[in-house]
Amino acid sequence: KGEGYLSIIVFGASGDLAKKKIFPAIFSLYCQGFLPHDKVQIFGYARSALTNNDLRDQLSRYLHVRAKAQPMTSSLPHAERFLSLITYISGPYNVEEGYQKLEQVIVHHEMLRAGKDGQTGRLFYLALPPSVYLQVGRNIKAYCMNTRGWNRVVLEKPFGKDLDSSNQLSSELGGLFAEEQIYRIDHYLGKEAVQNLLVLRFSNRIIQPLWSRDHVDNVQIVFKEDFGTEGRGGYFDEYGIVRDVIQNHLVQVLCLIAMEKPASLSPECIRDEKLKVLKCVEGIRHSEVVLGQYDGYLDDPTVPKGSNTPTFASIVLRICNERWDGVPFIIKAGKALDRRKGQRRGRNEFVIRLQPAEAMYMKFTVKRPGLDMSTTQSEMDLSFLQRYKGIVIPEAYERLFLDIMRGDQKHFVRRDELETSFG
Ligand code: BG6
Repeated sequence: KGEGYLSIIVFGASGDLAKKKIFPAIFSLYCQGFLPHDKVQIFGYARSALTNNDLRDQLSRYLHVRAKAQPMTSSLPHAERFLSLITYISGPYNVEEGYQKLEQVIVHHEMLRAGKDGQTGRLFYLALPPSVYLQVGRNIKAYCMNTRGWNRVVLEKPFGKDLDSSNQLSSELGGLFAEEQIYRIDHYLGKEAVQNLLVLRFSNRIIQPLWSRDHVDNVQIVFKEDFGTEGRGGYFDEYGIVRDVIQNHLVQVLCLIAMEKPASLSPECIRDEKLKVLKCVEGIRHSEVVLGQYDGYLDDPTVPKGSNTPTFASIVLRICNERWDGVPFIIKAGKALDRRKGQRRGRNEFVIRLQPAEAMYMKFTVKRPGLDMSTTQSEMDLSFLQRYKGIVIPEAYERLFLDIMRGDQKHFVRRDELETSFG
């Protein structure tokens, strides 16, 4: 808290991601005192011709104060105060004038608030489709870099479609910014239960010896959504479920489940261990892939006619190392699925539910209460909301945004990790 003066620049400020996730995350941090009013200024940049008030009005619908966000109690005055920090600048992404104007406005506020010598940082958030990353990156580099403090550039997946396009994007971005300046966001790494994986695994000695091929028959990482593309069909259809959630979110979860204990909790040590897991993943066998598309996908008007893009995939990944050799990691992901859960009897199942309603439970076979000596499966259950009454679990974006402000890349994807995950 309270270090220097910060300019937050959100590109794509009028888009869905910015409105629904980024601004609310910044607002929540603001309400909790992580962004002192006199030490921050927020700039929204996008193509739409909007006034400051138009953008503020649009955003105000999405700003909610969480019950426990202290010391604030009622949202309205805080939301208004927060919105007053936002300046909107409209401009195209490929034309330098827009960036020159942006630079002027940023500098104006920096001079006003931090003076000539104050410490400053600039956080550029690209809430944009990857097709414009490079032009925006080049223009930031040419016109908007902070010369007296740090610069950090935040990118959203997808970081390319395949190994070649991802490598190309990485090397072009790498020509503009240093790896320490690039924050590749995978919001799954900001989820409470995902972060808990490291603690659970490495702070409980009882788990250590069980967590391997000697005791684990298979690992299933399942992502089910009970809604379809909902107007995002244009984007989704280009990528499909594998690139949309498996190659990134679920593979990241796999890494955290499978990795060895890092030498320390430093960002590099954690990412080194994840990288080692990725390097041991064998090629996917065609016979172990199932693809599907939900009925009605083609009815979404944003989906191109006759598309055969998969909305469901089941893939087996095998990690060829001492710990996991022979244990299939079954990854299943699908949109517009029901919530039915399969269950097998007579074995111990350890379930980590990332969402909804974070929980961890272990299924044991126990004696059914009564005179008979019959058995049943029961759970030892840790449901977060029941166990930690009144707790508010931070949003993934909120936590990750705080990490960016602090310059902590632990929960962001490193370039070599990204490359290996495509490989
Ligand atoms: C996004 C995908 O990255 O993650 C979406 O593009 C998906 O298709 C979403 O719905 C899921 O995120 P969450 O946090 O709702 O599980």
